[in-house]
Amino acid sequence: MNKIIVANWKMNPQSKKEAEVLFNSISKGIKNIKNSQIIICPPFPFLSVFGNNKSKKIFLGAQNVSIENEGSHTGEVSASMIFSMKGKYAIVGHSECRSSGETNKTVNTKILNLIRNKISPIVCVGEKDRDHDGNYLSFIEDQIRECLNGVSKTQIKNLIIAYEPVWAIGKNATREATKEEFIEMKIFIKKVISDLYDSKIAHSIPILYGGSVNSLNAKSFAIEGGADGLLVGRDSLNPKKFEAILNALK
Ligand code: 13P
Repeated sequence: MNKIIVANWKMNPQSKKEAEVLFNSISKGIKNIKNSQIIICPPFPFLSVFGNNKSKKIFLGAQNVSIENEGSHTGEVSASMIFSMKGKYAIVGHSECRSSGETNKTVNTKILNLIRNKISPIVCVGEKDRDHDGNYLSFIEDQIRECLNGVSKTQIKNLIIAYEPVWAIGKNATREATKEEFIEMKIFIKKVISDLYDSKIAHSIPILYGGSVNSLNAKSFAIEGGADGLLVGRDSLNPKKFEAILNALK
């Protein structure tokens, strides 16, 4: 089955030239990859640079979107702008955005804006800490319920969920997640979706894993753990490491 591999470049690299080099190296490196759909999410300014890329394997995504549609909102980028730059996907609800004020309610507005503009939202959910009483499960349930408020059965078919436990993200991760932890969460997320919609929809929604993904653990999450794909931060900035992740899934 095809895996969805998302490269979240975050606020990297620092110049158009470096971004082109990175994009072209990834493009070359994935020539022989057959079983993955690759989505590259560069910073906004670089979306326009890659909009006309000829690769049939690489899709473009944004890392965020405005809650507004147009008008006097300095510094904001609308869903229709992303669409016009050939962005087919957009990450919303990333913990790094949530930590600077994004709420489930704003994520919900963003999801609805994106779907109206024919962009598939990649909705990040994830707890900050794991407690022994299982409170993290109700935290995730609330995130999903509130983020999907008003999203219809037809609309949800275009949506991807990414489980990214905050404690496993980035250089300051406290530890790596295990495939067992992902499996438990995948079952739980599907149950929440099934309660909200139905089991057919729950079955069809892709659930990705993100948080310190590398070539050594990619197989464990995406093959053994049954993730429908991976959301990769740091190792998507190094073409060799990114390629190694894709090769690990062959
Ligand atoms: P890292 O892969 O650098 O831990 O980042 C994960 C992430 O936040 C992807 O969205």
